[in-house]
Amino acid sequence: MTQKIRIAGGKQLKGEVSVSGAKNAVLKLMAAALLAKGESKIYNVPELTDVVIMLNVIEQLGAKTSYNKKEKSLTIDASDLTSVKASYELVSRMRASFVVLGALVGRCREAIVALPGGCAIGERKVDFHIKGLEALGTSIKIENGYVHAKAKKLTGSDIYLDIPSVGATENIMLASVLAEGSTRIQNAAQEPEIVDLANFLNAMGADIIGAGTSEIVINGVKQEDIRPIEYTTIPDRIEAGTYMAAFVATRGKGIIRNIFPNHLTFYTSKLSKMGADIKLIDPTSIEVSCKRKLEAINIITQPYPGFPTDLQSMAMALATTAEGVSIITESLYENRFMQVPELRKMGADIHQERNHALVKGVKNLTGANLRASDLRAGASLIIAALMANGISTIDNIYHIDRGYELIEDKFRMIGADVVRYEEDDSTIISQGKGNLSESQL
Ligand code: EPU
Repeated sequence: MTQKIRIAGGKQLKGEVSVSGAKNAVLKLMAAALLAKGESKIYNVPELTDVVIMLNVIEQLGAKTSYNKKEKSLTIDASDLTSVKASYELVSRMRASFVVLGALVGRCREAIVALPGGCAIGERKVDFHIKGLEALGTSIKIENGYVHAKAKKLTGSDIYLDIPSVGATENIMLASVLAEGSTRIQNAAQEPEIVDLANFLNAMGADIIGAGTSEIVINGVKQEDIRPIEYTTIPDRIEAGTYMAAFVATRGKGIIRNIFPNHLTFYTSKLSKMGADIKLIDPTSIEVSCKRKLEAINIITQPYPGFPTDLQSMAMALATTAEGVSIITESLYENRFMQVPELRKMGADIHQERNHALVKGVKNLTGANLRASDLRAGASLIIAALMANGISTIDNIYHIDRGYELIEDKFRMIGADVVRYEEDDSTIISQGKGNLSESQL
């Protein structure tokens, strides 16, 4: 049965919310755990459908996993990998699982991983991943929708990425940890999730320098140097940015805990320019409030440390009622304005031309029946619904469940009037329901 969310807008949000572990970090750490022969434990693992899919992928490869709900920890025993094949059925459900390619090539010198294909937000090619692995000495054939990678020997190499691709940087890092000699990735992605992966791998015994800058050097080590570890994932900066937008949207005031504020510097400065008041309370907490009318803003999404594409839709939701005309340019994906037609249903005045959107602020939005088309577009509809007059419903919320842990519970805790219900019989789903149960694993 399809689940929906119903939101009665217009409530000022107040209180405290704690951010979960970063989806886009933990998925890669799960792949990295495959490099060690033994049992690794990852803490701060959010209960998300994407995490469940990744668990299925690594279990298909022979890893044994168990999740401790109370500790929010995930144990991965990769002592014996029994397969090098990640199936289309799983990889097509979540592109991030393509990162097992690099880990398998590193550990097993062979991988058969389904090509993920495009998705709602864009074509999302993997050519840089493939070129990078080839540069390390892997021979790659693409057959029947699968990438078949084989390497007799992996040798370090200099690799230049045309675009600082997060996934390609990660796949190359994972494969080159166990290569002979040094690999240098130039124009590497600099996202905090890359740094987290490098820290995880270094704690395992890898030798990686420069993560977080545009040049990463991976000095190859031997399999016997790599050991299983315990590690805590970084907080989810995009989830944090979503709650920041929610407090601003509703002219509320609240504290966001378990956040690394320096991961959100660009976003914070843009929200402040719009009229938000953002204060550091302690090294991992901020207070966000907004008393003023929001002002229009110009935004161009860029790879980190620029304005994050994953928060572009949240900024657009805020811009819909800001004073003046905002110009929002999406420069990473071809099709990441999927929220636009939905926001228009609520009365937003948005003119879109290719990857530019002109958002003319209106007095207020009104509730409407909405549909989430992808994860971040879906989250922005929640922000818009919270600030709108009247009731909104959001369909296809499975997209939102891919990346936001206990979303309606967290919003309810800060005063939002939000319920999840079954479409067919309007049954309200109980609070505190996560996506990852111990019995599922
Ligand atoms: N690209 C290529 N060729 C490649 C790789 C990438 O042309 O071989 C292009 C893509 O098509 C895209 C751009 O480069 O237009 C950036 O892609 P990138 O590889 O950096 O992104 P990703 O690794 O696929 C991760 C996040 C995304 C986030 C981007 C950018 C994960 C699981 N996903 O994707 O997160 O938008 O980096 O920051 O880490 C989300 O969480 O909602 C999400 C989409």
